[in-house]
Amino acid sequence: MHWIQSAAEAMASHLSALRRDLHRCPETALQEYETSAFIRRELERLQIPCRMVGETGVAGFLRGTAPGAGAVALRADIDALPISEQTDAPYRSVREGTMHACGHDAHTAILLGGARLLAQHRDRFHGEVRFFFQPAEETGRGAMDFLRAGLLEGAERVFGLHVAPDLPLGTVGLKPGLNNAAVDGFRVEIQGKAAHVSTPQLGADALYIACMTVVALQAQVTRCTSPTEPVLLGIGTLRSGTAYNIVAESAILEGTTRTVSPEARQRCRRQIEATVAATAALYGGSARVVWDDIASAVINDPGATEEVARLVRNLRPDLTVCPDRPLSLGGDNFSEFETAVPGAYAYLGTANPNRPETQHPIHNARFDLDEDALPIGVWLHAAAVLSWLGDLNGEDQP
Ligand code: NI
Repeated sequence: MHWIQSAAEAMASHLSALRRDLHRCPETALQEYETSAFIRRELERLQIPCRMVGETGVAGFLRGTAPGAGAVALRADIDALPISEQTDAPYRSVREGTMHACGHDAHTAILLGGARLLAQHRDRFHGEVRFFFQPAEETGRGAMDFLRAGLLEGAERVFGLHVAPDLPLGTVGLKPGLNNAAVDGFRVEIQGKAAHVSTPQLGADALYIACMTVVALQAQVTRCTSPTEPVLLGIGTLRSGTAYNIVAESAILEGTTRTVSPEARQRCRRQIEATVAATAALYGGSARVVWDDIASAVINDPGATEEVARLVRNLRPDLTVCPDRPLSLGGDNFSEFETAVPGAYAYLGTANPNRPETQHPIHNARFDLDEDALPIGVWLHAAAVLSWLGDLNGEDQP
Protein backbone atom coordinates (compact mmCIF):
# COMPACT_ATOMS: atom_id res chain seq x y z
CA MET A 1 0.00 0.00 0.00
CA HIS A 2 1.28 3.46 -0.92
CA TRP A 3 2.24 5.49 2.15
CA ILE A 4 -0.34 8.25 1.49
CA GLN A 5 -3.13 5.70 1.67
CA SER A 6 -1.80 4.25 4.94
CA ALA A 7 -1.48 7.75 6.39
CA ALA A 8 -5.04 8.67 5.34
CA GLU A 9 -6.54 5.45 6.66
CA ALA A 10 -4.71 5.79 9.95
CA MET A 11 -6.71 8.94 10.68
CA ALA A 12 -10.14 7.40 9.99
CA SER A 13 -11.45 7.68 13.55
CA HIS A 14 -10.09 11.24 13.87
CA LEU A 15 -11.93 12.18 10.66
CA SER A 16 -15.21 10.70 11.90
CA ALA A 17 -14.84 12.62 15.16
CA LEU A 18 -14.23 15.90 13.31
CA ARG A 19 -17.14 15.30 10.98
CA ARG A 20 -19.50 14.38 13.82
CA ASP A 21 -18.55 17.47 15.84
CA LEU A 22 -19.32 19.61 12.80
CA HIS A 23 -22.49 17.68 12.03
CA ARG A 24 -23.89 18.24 15.53
CA CYS A 25 -23.53 22.01 15.28
CA PRO A 26 -24.49 23.09 11.77
CA GLU A 27 -24.61 26.76 10.77
CA THR A 28 -26.25 28.18 7.65
CA ALA A 29 -24.70 30.49 5.06
CA LEU A 30 -22.71 33.43 6.48
CA GLN A 31 -23.55 32.35 10.05
CA GLU A 32 -20.65 29.87 10.27
CA TYR A 33 -18.98 31.57 13.25
CA GLU A 34 -18.50 28.48 15.43
CA THR A 35 -17.57 26.35 12.43
CA SER A 36 -14.98 28.94 11.46
CA ALA A 37 -13.54 29.00 15.00
CA PHE A 38 -13.45 25.18 15.02
CA ILE A 39 -11.45 25.19 11.77
CA ARG A 40 -9.00 27.82 13.05
CA ARG A 41 -8.43 25.89 16.28
CA GLU A 42 -7.62 22.76 14.31
CA LEU A 43 -5.25 24.63 11.96
CA GLU A 44 -3.52 26.22 14.97
CA ARG A 45 -3.05 22.76 16.47
CA LEU A 46 -1.33 21.78 13.22
CA GLN A 47 0.72 25.02 13.30
CA ILE A 48 -0.72 26.08 9.95
CA PRO A 49 -0.99 29.89 9.79
CA CYS A 50 -4.38 31.12 8.66
CA ARG A 51 -6.37 34.26 7.97
CA MET A 52 -10.04 35.13 7.83
CA VAL A 53 -11.76 35.69 4.49
CA GLY A 54 -14.88 37.72 5.08
CA GLU A 55 -16.51 37.11 8.47
CA THR A 56 -16.51 33.33 8.49
CA GLY A 57 -14.20 32.09 5.70
CA VAL A 58 -10.76 30.74 6.58
CA ALA A 59 -7.64 30.34 4.43
CA GLY A 60 -4.68 28.30 5.77
CA PHE A 61 -1.18 28.34 4.31
CA LEU A 62 1.29 25.47 4.55
CA ARG A 63 4.77 25.69 3.07
CA GLY A 64 6.62 22.57 2.00
CA THR A 65 10.28 22.28 2.94
CA ALA A 66 11.48 20.53 -0.24
CA PRO A 67 13.39 22.81 -2.62
CA GLY A 68 11.18 24.44 -5.22
CA ALA A 69 8.29 26.86 -5.69
CA GLY A 70 4.66 26.66 -6.73
CA ALA A 71 1.22 26.80 -5.14
CA VAL A 72 -1.91 24.68 -5.12
CA ALA A 73 -5.31 25.50 -3.59
CA LEU A 74 -7.70 23.03 -1.97
CA ARG A 75 -11.26 24.03 -1.18
CA ALA A 76 -14.01 22.81 1.14
CA ASP A 77 -17.38 24.47 1.67
CA ILE A 78 -18.50 24.71 5.29
CA ASP A 79 -22.15 25.85 5.48
CA ALA A 80 -25.28 23.88 6.36
CA LEU A 81 -28.92 24.11 5.25
CA PRO A 82 -32.18 25.33 6.82
CA ILE A 83 -33.55 21.77 7.14
CA SER A 84 -34.78 19.93 10.25
CA GLU A 85 -32.77 16.72 10.49
CA GLN A 86 -34.83 13.53 10.55
CA THR A 87 -32.12 10.92 11.02
CA ASP A 88 -31.64 8.76 14.10
CA ALA A 89 -27.86 9.21 14.02
CA PRO A 90 -26.20 9.62 17.44
CA TYR A 91 -24.49 12.71 16.00
CA ARG A 92 -27.68 14.29 14.67
CA SER A 93 -27.99 18.07 14.64
CA VAL A 94 -28.66 19.64 18.01
CA ARG A 95 -29.93 22.75 16.22
CA GLU A 96 -33.56 22.33 15.26
CA GLY A 97 -34.13 23.64 11.76
CA THR A 98 -30.48 23.47 10.67
CA MET A 99 -28.72 20.47 9.21
CA HIS A 100 -25.61 19.44 7.30
CA ALA A 101 -27.71 17.82 4.59
CA CYS A 102 -25.22 18.46 1.78
CA GLY A 103 -22.14 16.85 3.33
CA HIS A 104 -20.21 20.08 3.89
CA ASP A 105 -19.37 18.74 7.37
CA ALA A 106 -17.59 15.88 5.59
CA HIS A 107 -15.86 18.26 3.15
CA THR A 108 -14.55 20.33 6.07
CA ALA A 109 -13.38 17.28 8.04
CA ILE A 110 -11.69 15.86 4.94
CA LEU A 111 -9.81 19.09 4.21
CA LEU A 112 -8.73 19.37 7.86
CA GLY A 113 -7.50 15.77 7.54
CA GLY A 114 -5.66 16.66 4.35
CA ALA A 115 -4.03 19.59 6.16
CA ARG A 116 -2.95 17.26 8.96
CA LEU A 117 -1.47 14.70 6.58
CA LEU A 118 0.39 17.32 4.55
CA ALA A 119 1.62 19.14 7.67
CA GLN A 120 3.14 15.88 8.89
CA HIS A 121 4.88 15.37 5.54
CA ARG A 122 5.87 18.86 4.57
CA ASP A 123 9.35 17.63 3.62
CA ARG A 124 7.75 15.77 0.71
CA PHE A 125 6.56 18.81 -1.24
CA HIS A 126 7.72 22.26 -2.25
CA GLY A 127 5.93 25.58 -2.55
CA GLU A 128 2.69 26.32 -0.75
CA VAL A 129 -0.61 24.56 -0.17
CA ARG A 130 -3.55 26.89 0.47
CA PHE A 131 -6.54 25.48 2.31
CA PHE A 132 -9.77 27.34 1.55
CA PHE A 133 -12.69 26.85 3.93
CA GLN A 134 -15.45 28.64 2.06
CA PRO A 135 -18.70 29.80 3.65
CA ALA A 136 -22.13 30.23 2.06
CA GLU A 137 -21.84 27.86 -0.88
CA GLU A 138 -25.56 27.12 -0.61
CA THR A 139 -26.49 30.73 -1.33
CA GLY A 140 -23.92 31.24 -4.07
CA ARG A 141 -21.70 33.42 -1.85
CA GLY A 142 -18.27 33.03 -0.33
CA ALA A 143 -16.19 31.90 -3.29
CA MET A 144 -15.66 35.29 -4.93
CA ASP A 145 -14.30 36.68 -1.64
CA PHE A 146 -11.31 34.34 -1.95
CA LEU A 147 -10.70 35.47 -5.52
CA ARG A 148 -11.07 39.16 -4.69
CA ALA A 149 -8.59 38.74 -1.83
CA GLY A 150 -6.06 37.52 -4.39
CA LEU A 151 -5.73 34.14 -2.72
CA LEU A 152 -5.53 32.27 -6.01
CA GLU A 153 -2.71 34.41 -7.35
CA GLY A 154 0.24 32.28 -8.39
CA ALA A 155 -1.69 29.04 -7.87
CA GLU A 156 -1.24 26.44 -10.59
CA ARG A 157 -4.08 24.13 -9.67
CA VAL A 158 -7.23 24.05 -7.56
CA PHE A 159 -8.87 20.89 -6.27
CA GLY A 160 -12.08 20.23 -4.38
CA LEU A 161 -14.61 17.49 -3.86
CA HIS A 162 -18.27 16.92 -3.07
CA VAL A 163 -19.90 13.88 -1.50
CA ALA A 164 -22.12 11.95 -3.92
CA PRO A 165 -24.83 9.58 -2.67
CA ASP A 166 -25.53 8.66 -6.31
CA LEU A 167 -22.10 6.96 -6.46
CA PRO A 168 -21.16 3.88 -4.41
CA LEU A 169 -18.44 4.06 -1.80
CA GLY A 170 -15.10 3.50 -3.55
CA THR A 171 -16.11 5.32 -6.73
CA VAL A 172 -14.76 8.79 -7.53
CA GLY A 173 -16.49 10.90 -10.16
CA LEU A 174 -13.83 12.76 -12.16
CA LYS A 175 -15.31 14.12 -15.31
CA PRO A 176 -13.47 16.53 -17.60
CA GLY A 177 -15.45 19.53 -18.82
CA LEU A 178 -19.01 20.36 -17.83
CA ASN A 179 -20.21 18.94 -14.48
CA ASN A 180 -22.79 21.38 -13.12
CA ALA A 181 -24.96 24.04 -14.71
CA ALA A 182 -24.60 27.78 -14.19
CA VAL A 183 -27.15 29.14 -11.74
CA ASP A 184 -28.87 32.51 -11.87
CA GLY A 185 -31.58 33.71 -9.55
CA PHE A 186 -34.08 36.32 -10.62
CA ARG A 187 -36.87 38.41 -9.16
CA VAL A 188 -39.58 39.85 -11.39
CA GLU A 189 -41.14 43.00 -9.97
CA ILE A 190 -44.49 43.73 -11.60
CA GLN A 191 -46.22 47.05 -11.21
CA GLY A 192 -49.93 47.31 -11.95
CA LYS A 193 -52.69 49.63 -10.79
CA ALA A 194 -55.20 48.95 -8.05
CA ALA A 195 -58.94 49.24 -8.64
CA HIS A 196 -62.15 47.72 -7.32
CA VAL A 197 -62.50 44.18 -8.55
CA SER A 198 -65.82 45.11 -10.17
CA THR A 199 -64.08 47.62 -12.48
CA PRO A 200 -60.98 45.81 -13.77
CA GLN A 201 -60.81 48.09 -16.80
CA LEU A 202 -59.80 50.95 -14.49
CA GLY A 203 -56.79 49.04 -13.12
CA ALA A 204 -53.85 46.96 -14.31
CA ASP A 205 -53.99 43.53 -12.69
CA ALA A 206 -50.49 42.69 -11.47
CA LEU A 207 -51.58 39.25 -10.25
CA TYR A 208 -52.97 38.37 -13.67
CA ILE A 209 -49.78 39.67 -15.32
CA ALA A 210 -47.73 37.53 -12.93
CA CYS A 211 -49.70 34.41 -13.86
CA MET A 212 -49.34 35.09 -17.58
CA THR A 213 -45.62 35.74 -17.06
CA VAL A 214 -45.14 32.39 -15.31
CA VAL A 215 -46.76 30.64 -18.26
CA ALA A 216 -45.02 32.74 -20.93
CA LEU A 217 -41.57 32.23 -19.45
CA GLN A 218 -41.68 28.46 -19.91
CA ALA A 219 -41.72 29.09 -23.67
CA GLN A 220 -38.09 30.17 -23.29
CA VAL A 221 -37.32 26.53 -22.60
CA THR A 222 -39.86 24.74 -24.78
CA ARG A 223 -40.10 27.08 -27.79
CA CYS A 224 -36.93 29.19 -27.87
CA THR A 225 -34.19 26.69 -26.89
CA SER A 226 -32.92 23.70 -28.80
CA PRO A 227 -34.47 20.55 -27.30
CA THR A 228 -30.99 19.05 -27.13
CA GLU A 229 -29.62 21.87 -24.99
CA PRO A 230 -30.16 21.63 -21.23
CA VAL A 231 -31.84 24.84 -20.06
CA LEU A 232 -34.04 24.90 -16.98
CA LEU A 233 -36.29 27.71 -15.77
CA GLY A 234 -38.14 27.37 -12.49
CA ILE A 235 -40.37 29.85 -10.66
CA GLY A 236 -40.57 29.11 -6.95
CA THR A 237 -42.64 31.97 -5.52
CA LEU A 238 -45.45 34.30 -6.53
CA ARG A 239 -46.58 36.96 -4.08
CA SER A 240 -49.38 39.33 -4.93
CA GLY A 241 -52.61 40.88 -3.79
CA THR A 242 -54.00 42.34 -0.59
CA ALA A 243 -57.73 41.47 -0.56
CA TYR A 244 -60.21 39.37 -2.52
CA ASN A 245 -62.00 42.38 -3.99
CA ILE A 246 -59.04 44.53 -5.05
CA VAL A 247 -57.24 44.34 -8.38
CA ALA A 248 -53.66 43.61 -7.27
CA GLU A 249 -51.36 46.58 -7.59
CA SER A 250 -48.07 44.68 -7.57
CA ALA A 251 -46.63 41.20 -7.78
CA ILE A 252 -43.27 39.57 -7.24
CA LEU A 253 -42.04 36.33 -8.77
CA GLU A 254 -38.82 34.59 -7.80
CA GLY A 255 -37.15 31.96 -9.91
CA THR A 256 -33.94 30.49 -11.22
CA THR A 257 -32.34 29.47 -14.49
CA ARG A 258 -29.83 26.69 -15.10
CA THR A 259 -27.71 26.89 -18.24
CA VAL A 260 -24.55 25.15 -19.40
CA SER A 261 -22.64 27.77 -21.38
CA PRO A 262 -21.91 31.50 -20.99
CA GLU A 263 -23.73 32.07 -24.32
CA ALA A 264 -26.90 30.29 -23.19
CA ARG A 265 -26.73 32.12 -19.87
CA GLN A 266 -26.70 35.52 -21.59
CA ARG A 267 -29.34 34.51 -24.14
CA CYS A 268 -31.67 33.29 -21.41
CA ARG A 269 -31.32 36.54 -19.52
CA ARG A 270 -32.14 38.65 -22.57
CA GLN A 271 -35.15 36.51 -23.48
CA ILE A 272 -36.55 36.53 -19.95
CA GLU A 273 -36.27 40.31 -19.76
CA ALA A 274 -38.04 40.70 -23.10
CA THR A 275 -40.85 38.30 -22.15
CA VAL A 276 -41.39 39.96 -18.78
CA ALA A 277 -41.54 43.47 -20.25
CA ALA A 278 -43.82 42.48 -23.15
CA THR A 279 -46.24 40.51 -20.98
CA ALA A 280 -46.63 43.35 -18.49
CA ALA A 281 -47.10 45.92 -21.26
CA LEU A 282 -49.78 43.79 -22.92
CA TYR A 283 -52.04 44.14 -19.85
CA GLY A 284 -51.25 47.74 -18.96
CA GLY A 285 -48.55 47.19 -16.35
CA SER A 286 -44.79 47.36 -16.23
CA ALA A 287 -42.13 45.03 -14.90
CA ARG A 288 -38.43 44.66 -14.35
CA VAL A 289 -36.08 41.76 -13.64
CA VAL A 290 -33.45 41.86 -10.89
CA TRP A 291 -30.68 39.28 -11.36
CA ASP A 292 -28.58 37.44 -8.82
CA ASP A 293 -25.39 35.77 -10.14
CA ILE A 294 -25.31 32.59 -8.07
CA ALA A 295 -22.72 30.40 -9.75
CA SER A 296 -20.93 29.85 -13.03
CA ALA A 297 -21.04 26.39 -14.60
CA VAL A 298 -18.62 23.88 -13.06
CA ILE A 299 -16.24 23.12 -15.92
CA ASN A 300 -13.35 20.85 -14.98
CA ASP A 301 -10.05 21.50 -16.69
CA PRO A 302 -9.45 18.38 -18.81
CA GLY A 303 -5.72 18.28 -18.01
CA ALA A 304 -6.04 18.75 -14.25
CA THR A 305 -8.92 16.26 -14.09
CA GLU A 306 -7.00 13.63 -16.02
CA GLU A 307 -4.00 14.15 -13.70
CA VAL A 308 -6.14 13.28 -10.66
CA ALA A 309 -7.92 10.42 -12.46
CA ARG A 310 -4.54 8.95 -13.42
CA LEU A 311 -3.43 9.08 -9.77
CA VAL A 312 -6.48 7.10 -8.73
CA ARG A 313 -5.99 4.53 -11.47
CA ASN A 314 -2.26 4.16 -10.80
CA LEU A 315 -2.20 4.21 -7.02
CA ARG A 316 -5.64 3.00 -5.92
CA PRO A 317 -6.68 -0.22 -7.63
CA ASP A 318 -9.35 -0.51 -4.91
CA LEU A 319 -11.11 2.61 -6.26
CA THR A 320 -13.09 3.17 -9.45
CA VAL A 321 -13.03 6.35 -11.51
CA CYS A 322 -16.39 7.38 -12.96
CA PRO A 323 -15.50 9.68 -15.89
CA ASP A 324 -19.06 10.31 -17.08
CA ARG A 325 -21.27 11.11 -14.10
CA PRO A 326 -24.45 12.68 -15.54
CA LEU A 327 -24.65 16.48 -15.76
CA SER A 328 -26.22 18.07 -12.69
CA LEU A 329 -28.42 21.16 -13.06
CA GLY A 330 -27.68 21.91 -9.40
CA GLY A 331 -24.97 24.52 -9.06
CA ASP A 332 -21.76 24.70 -7.05
CA ASN A 333 -19.66 27.81 -6.90
CA PHE A 334 -16.41 25.86 -6.81
CA SER A 335 -16.81 26.94 -10.44
CA GLU A 336 -15.54 30.43 -9.57
CA PHE A 337 -12.16 29.01 -8.50
CA GLU A 338 -11.99 27.03 -11.75
CA THR A 339 -12.53 30.17 -13.80
CA ALA A 340 -9.27 31.51 -12.31
CA VAL A 341 -7.05 28.43 -12.15
CA PRO A 342 -7.14 25.03 -13.94
CA GLY A 343 -9.04 22.84 -11.55
CA ALA A 344 -10.62 19.49 -10.86
CA TYR A 345 -13.79 18.91 -8.85
CA ALA A 346 -14.27 15.32 -7.77
CA TYR A 347 -17.45 13.55 -6.67
CA LEU A 348 -16.79 11.19 -3.79
CA GLY A 349 -19.07 8.15 -3.67
CA THR A 350 -20.66 7.85 -0.22
CA ALA A 351 -23.48 5.32 -0.72
CA ASN A 352 -23.18 1.91 0.88
CA PRO A 353 -25.55 -0.61 -0.73
CA ASN A 354 -26.02 -2.31 2.65
CA ARG A 355 -26.90 0.89 4.50
CA PRO A 356 -30.14 2.50 3.26
CA GLU A 357 -29.50 5.64 5.33
CA THR A 358 -26.53 6.45 3.06
CA GLN A 359 -28.68 6.41 -0.07
CA HIS A 360 -30.86 9.47 0.49
CA PRO A 361 -30.17 12.39 -1.84
CA ILE A 362 -28.40 15.55 -0.67
CA HIS A 363 -30.66 18.32 0.68
CA ASN A 364 -32.92 15.60 2.16
CA ALA A 365 -33.71 15.61 5.90
CA ARG A 366 -32.59 11.95 6.12
CA PHE A 367 -29.29 12.44 4.28
CA ASP A 368 -26.30 10.64 5.78
CA LEU A 369 -23.09 9.20 4.37
CA ASP A 370 -20.72 6.28 4.84
CA GLU A 371 -17.78 7.68 6.79
CA ASP A 372 -15.45 5.16 5.14
CA ALA A 373 -15.40 7.73 2.34
CA LEU A 374 -13.61 10.28 4.57
CA PRO A 375 -10.08 8.77 4.30
CA ILE A 376 -10.59 8.41 0.54
CA GLY A 377 -11.29 12.14 0.39
CA VAL A 378 -8.15 12.90 2.41
CA TRP A 379 -6.15 10.67 0.08
CA LEU A 380 -7.48 12.56 -2.96
CA HIS A 381 -6.46 15.96 -1.54
CA ALA A 382 -3.03 14.76 -0.42
CA ALA A 383 -2.23 12.74 -3.53
CA ALA A 384 -3.24 15.65 -5.77
CA VAL A 385 -0.96 18.05 -3.87
CA LEU A 386 1.97 15.65 -3.78
CA SER A 387 1.64 14.97 -7.51
CA TRP A 388 1.57 18.68 -8.30
CA LEU A 389 4.13 19.94 -5.79
CA GLY A 390 6.08 16.90 -4.80
CA ASP A 391 7.30 13.51 -5.70
CA LEU A 392 4.97 10.56 -5.51
CA ASN A 393 7.54 8.02 -6.58
CA GLY A 394 8.39 5.18 -4.29
CA GLU A 395 6.30 3.03 -2.04
CA ASP A 396 8.52 3.79 0.93
CA GLN A 397 7.12 4.51 4.34
CA PRO A 398 7.88 8.03 5.59
NI1 NI B 1 -23.11 20.92 -1.36
